Amino acid sequence: MKPHSVGSIWPSSQHLAKAMIEDIDFQAGDVVIEYGPGTGPFTHLLRQHLPEGIRYLGIEFDLHLCKALRHRFPEMLFHHGSAEETGELLKHYNLGPARLIISGLPFANMPASLQERILIATQQALRPNGLFRTFTYLCSSISPRARHFQKRVTDHFQQEKKHRIVLKNFPPARVLSYLERVRKQLIFDIF
Ligand SMILES: C[S@@+](CC[C@H](N)C(=O)[O-])C[C@H]1O[C@@H](n2cnc3c(N)ncnc32)[C@H](O)[C@@H]1O
Repeated sequence: MKPHSVGSIWPSSQHLAKAMIEDIDFQAGDVVIEYGPGTGPFTHLLRQHLPEGIRYLGIEFDLHLCKALRHRFPEMLFHHGSAEETGELLKHYNLGPARLIISGLPFANMPASLQERILIATQQALRPNGLFRTFTYLCSSISPRARHFQKRVTDHFQQEKKHRIVLKNFPPARVLSYLERVRKQLIFDIF
């Protein structure tokens, strides 16, 4: 495992997991991608909230965690690999563009080049008006890599809404929520 690949020794709390999926109106047929499910705190909540007919793909970089996820959630699909590969994986698993990409990735620990590759893959994998949700720990949000990520993410996406801080998480965190930009551009083109 690479040093930038984990980002926290503590799994996210159920409070953060709830904030990650709040106000999402899932529809049958939606494709939901999870980056870096880890030990599965978001996956667990997604399993409870996803209606029948949702297609889910978890992409986990760590082989041991990926095997453990397959064991814990046998009805869900997990790929051992990197979020950079999302576009190819959607084709490989015969999935359409994603309605939601929910990320547990440690962007604040990642080199800028990797952040960029994942952001491009994410933008390409989302359907019009698709949502990209990630989070940042308050303690690391002013680090150079976190600031770089926050700048680049708004070059690729428009902010959906500002979420409150989740204090009941270690470390406290804020959900970041973005909409795919192409749709906005199309709306401006029409008017
Ligand atoms: C901070 S942990 C978060 C785990 C879980 N989502 C949570 O919130 O507790 C980050 C996870 O992302 C995985 N990961 C790191 N880089 C990745 C990448 N490029 N693609 C997919 N998963 C990655 C790590 O193996 C780890 O499981």
